[in-house]
Amino acid sequence: MIDTEEDLNSSHLQGESMSKVLVMNGSPRPKGNTAYLIGELSKVLVEKGHDVEVLDLNDLDIKPCQGCFSCYRGFPLRCVQDDAMNSLYPMVLGSDVLVFASPIYWFNYSAQLKLFVDRLVALHVEGGHALDGRKFASIFVYGDTDSEASGVFTAMESVDRVVSYFKGVYLGIVHGTGGDDLTVSDNEMLLDELGKLADKI
Ligand SMILES: Cc1cc2nc3c(=O)[nH]c(=O)nc-3n(C[C@H](O)[C@H](O)[C@H](O)COP(=O)(O)O)c2cc1C
Repeated sequence: MIDTEEDLNSSHLQGESMSKVLVMNGSPRPKGNTAYLIGELSKVLVEKGHDVEVLDLNDLDIKPCQGCFSCYRGFPLRCVQDDAMNSLYPMVLGSDVLVFASPIYWFNYSAQLKLFVDRLVALHVEGGHALDGRKFASIFVYGDTDSEASGVFTAMESVDRVVSYFKGVYLGIVHGTGGDDLTVSDNEMLLDELGKLADKI
């Protein structure tokens, strides 16, 4: 049982080589490009001895943040909304590396991922945030063959600001083109970049 903030954070301080990696999948398509890239990254990480957990956000009951700030006032590290997030917070806090993975929808990351990110407000602690100093990475896939036109840079800047807010370590971003079909699987450069990202974890 996890009782205190110290307990919640302890696992990321233990063990030098093995990392706990939590991947947030913001795509609704179980066999889509994002899921494929997450699968490839997970395979490499597991081979390296890391522990990988993937959250398919689309399948989880995650309600929008209500902006009530109860989490700031006597309701620490939890949300007054009784949905999936309260059981996810301990997992988030127990992770060494958080990977935000999403397709680009309308020039930004998906709403599924945004709901999750908004709800991280509940992990506010006195003078900072419980995720301060954690490691982060991102994976983005888009339909446009021109990355500039796809909107991926908006998503990248948005996550970059979140990571900066957490005073986190940004390990890297892997992004590339994938259509409605599974075209990312043909993109060897992308797979190579995933391997390089895995090496940093
Ligand atoms: C609602 C919606 C909005 C999209 N908006 C964009 C966009 O702004 N830029 C882009 O390049 N692709 C856009 N796409 C294409 C997806 O990013 C692309 O098909 C991606 O590979 C889907 O990832 P998935 O296979 O993991 O679901 C959009 C797709 C949908 C369904």
